[in-house]
Amino acid sequence: AFIGETVFVVLGASGDLAKKKTFPALFTLFRQGHLPSDIHIVGYARTKMTPEEFQTRATSYIKPPKNKEHQAEFETALAGFHKILSYVSGPYDQDSGYQDLEKHLREIESKRAKGEKRNRIFYMALPPSVFTEAAAGLKKNNYSTEGGNRLIVEKPFGKDLESCREMMSALKAEWAESETYRIDHYLGKEMVKNLLVLRFGNIVLDAVLNKNSVSNVQITFKEPFGTEGRGGYFDEFGIIRDVCQNHLLQALSVLTMERPVSFSAEDIRDEKVKVLRAIPPIKPQDTLLGQYVAADGKPGYLDDDTVPKGSTCPTFAALTLFINNPRWEGVPFIMKAGKALNEGKVEIRVQFKDVTSGIFTDIARDELVVRIQPDEAVYLKLNSKLPGLITKAVPTELNLNYSERFTDVEVPQAYEALILDAIKGDRSNFVRDDELDVAWKIFTPILHWIDGVDGGEKPKPEPYAYGSRGPADSAAFSARYGFRRTEEGSYTWPVTSVA
Ligand code: BG6
Repeated sequence: AFIGETVFVVLGASGDLAKKKTFPALFTLFRQGHLPSDIHIVGYARTKMTPEEFQTRATSYIKPPKNKEHQAEFETALAGFHKILSYVSGPYDQDSGYQDLEKHLREIESKRAKGEKRNRIFYMALPPSVFTEAAAGLKKNNYSTEGGNRLIVEKPFGKDLESCREMMSALKAEWAESETYRIDHYLGKEMVKNLLVLRFGNIVLDAVLNKNSVSNVQITFKEPFGTEGRGGYFDEFGIIRDVCQNHLLQALSVLTMERPVSFSAEDIRDEKVKVLRAIPPIKPQDTLLGQYVAADGKPGYLDDDTVPKGSTCPTFAALTLFINNPRWEGVPFIMKAGKALNEGKVEIRVQFKDVTSGIFTDIARDELVVRIQPDEAVYLKLNSKLPGLITKAVPTELNLNYSERFTDVEVPQAYEALILDAIKGDRSNFVRDDELDVAWKIFTPILHWIDGVDGGEKPKPEPYAYGSRGPADSAAFSARYGFRRTEEGSYTWPVTSVA
């Protein structure tokens, strides 16, 4: 574990990911005093920039505080952050660039006291086309022999099982698994991290999360915007590779794994792999695909100039997975993800079975909802007697709303949590090689079917209007797997009138 005596190198420093996520996260960690006091952050990219231009670009997405009282402290922190930032430009495919970087790193490290370590962390915010050569270039030219080295990488890790394996073996030829940190930023989200505590720290939850009590589980990802500007990238991947195979599957694995022996990285990841191995490949008949079309002045997916004409790339997918193990056998896990929908929301909804019939008719099902974003919350939908002189059950809720319950705590951003973990050497929330392999096994057959890889006809996605709830068949799809929507009107909050 290293935290001090470290240089943090961001490759792809002029790109979108670095600007929008990496540098703002590093700044917040710096401002809150979580980074080691001797940290240096070095940007590397092809673009030629002066140090000032780089500083401006790297901090362009950092927002000033809303509360004016914090303005002065923010300005001081920003000025301090600029001082630890520097930049080197160079190519990814030639040693000369990495050698320039090396010179720069040595200059920084030469100011260290004798006996101090020269730890280096390389964060690759790079397009996949240069992943492998950058990893090799860094290993050859910039690998520290007087300290530890870590490589942080991020999806896409290939496009299917085979291409992922190729990429992994190319990376592994240079970097050991113990040095590799694969980011799936959903594992850094507060609510996904909370699943471990909610499940294994509560008898009442752990006891009911199994096939005896659960009817079905929905994991939903909704975004209110389309692929505007990213159409070219997106079209190569589609919604399933973009969020289902990674982000939603990661949430599913933490939700369903057995209790790990300890909180250590390997114990957690062993359990995740074990549950993922019990999931057979998704079948075409358990799939519903959609693509958004223009509505209310908003462009359709195919209206984007960067999208190939007539593309059948899905921007919406509903997929049902099953887990063949004693805890979950037969329970459908319905994953739904879509762009350009009516709202932005990510949640897990565990719907319990009906109470046995007899004394109640028409009583709502219990549900446990974990809202990952926005407005983190956990709530349990329960039936309760409506107060009054008659006996009537109404659906109500036990509600843990983060903004009300944890008023003085700021929920960290995913990238802040993960970057700090990487600096500290905690790998529990990074994706292990075998996890990635089994994740691709689950998804590769339907992806090949969708892409018409074996010469088959590509399935046509169902059109849905920009800003709608998705394809018309979406509700019927969930119903097919036993999901029951609480009747409109029977569930209102707060309850104001006695029926
Ligand atoms: C990324 C996807 O991995 O995750 C994007 O490529 C998506 O398409 C994003 O918008 C969602 O992340 P978040 O943190 O905004 O929910």
